[in-house]
Amino acid sequence: MKAVRIHANGDPEVLRWEVVTLPPPGAGEVRIRHTAISINFSDINVRRGGFYIAQPLQFPIILGNEAAGVVASVGPGVTDMQPGDRVVYAGMSAAFYEKTGSYAEERNVPADRLLTIPPRVSDRQAAAMMVKGFTASLVINRVFKPKPGDTILIHAAASGVGILLAQWSKHLGATVIGTVGSRDKAEVARAHGCDHTILYRETDFTAAVKAIVPQGVSAVFDGVGRDTFVASLDCVRPFGMLVNYGNASGHVPPVDLLLLAKKGSLSVCRPALSSHIGNVAGMRAAAAELFDLVARGVLKIEIGRTYPLHDAAAAHRDIEARKYAGAMLLIP
Ligand SMILES: NC(=O)c1ccc[n+]([C@@H]2O[C@H](COP(=O)([O-])OP(=O)(O)OC[C@H]3O[C@@H](n4cnc5c(N)ncnc54)[C@H](OP(=O)(O)O)[C@@H]3O)[C@@H](O)[C@H]2O)c1
Repeated sequence: MKAVRIHANGDPEVLRWEVVTLPPPGAGEVRIRHTAISINFSDINVRRGGFYIAQPLQFPIILGNEAAGVVASVGPGVTDMQPGDRVVYAGMSAAFYEKTGSYAEERNVPADRLLTIPPRVSDRQAAAMMVKGFTASLVINRVFKPKPGDTILIHAAASGVGILLAQWSKHLGATVIGTVGSRDKAEVARAHGCDHTILYRETDFTAAVKAIVPQGVSAVFDGVGRDTFVASLDCVRPFGMLVNYGNASGHVPPVDLLLLAKKGSLSVCRPALSSHIGNVAGMRAAAAELFDLVARGVLKIEIGRTYPLHDAAAAHRDIEARKYAGAMLLIP
């Protein structure tokens, strides 16, 4: 089979389309023929290498944590999966830079990490919604659940995770303010739950938020990190919360806890997906809720762009250039 591998960290040019030998599925494993592979920002972090990867990586590496596909064959001991079943997986119960391997035509996956795709969800929707949906679920179910009367500020509200947080927060009754990097993205954000949008690359977003909600927002959901974190503290009402779930712009500098007192007794949380879906029961419960929200039309899965798998480099370049809203997929 063929896969996209890296032999060193670097720019998108390090992604290489290569022939790789895949052994038959081992005990407890299932071979998946991928039909849609999701790109996550973490793939870009693994490709670049850097700030929070604990150990030096062992090259070559096939990138990717998330894909949908069809069961091609099952290994010894697997009794609950049949060839032809439609399945999706998100992560291997490890850090995002470990046990990667989705940028490939086929892959062997432990059966217990597989989720059956419900009939009303397409393979592409399933691939696009798991990591990003689990992250939205992590923020909303584990850290801060919006309710009527709350105003929530969501940074990069047209991004893969932001677009789900906006729809979910709106569904729960909150007023939603979304920052976005372009007018096109503002339109997408407004169509997916945002009551207000702010073009934060050209406007002081703190002043714009205060003009909408002078007392400050109940919570900020921030996947942008370095470029938004400090100014976001001035957007939060007393006793409110800043949830930093990602670092698309870079690492957040260390926070002086006394600053949180001075800004109005604020809370800051930095949640990680591994604590939410690391165990199989937790992952299945979170997935069941997501599939239900999608089936009921509460969450609409926006697929911004698809790329041929062999052209993963073009997809990475577009994501780094912040070109499109929604989720990006690679199609084998
Ligand atoms: N905590 C966890 O366990 C967890 C789980 C999943 C994802 N994450 C993290 O959450 C963040 C968002 O994920 P996502 O799937 O929503 O990513 P995404 O779809 O690629 O969106 C990231 C968005 O961030 C904005 N952005 C601001 N500065 C940027 C820069 N320098 N480069 C690229 N984008 C920039 C862009 O929106 P605008 O153009 O509108 O500014 C971009 O669309 C990522 O850092 C990801 O690693 C964390």
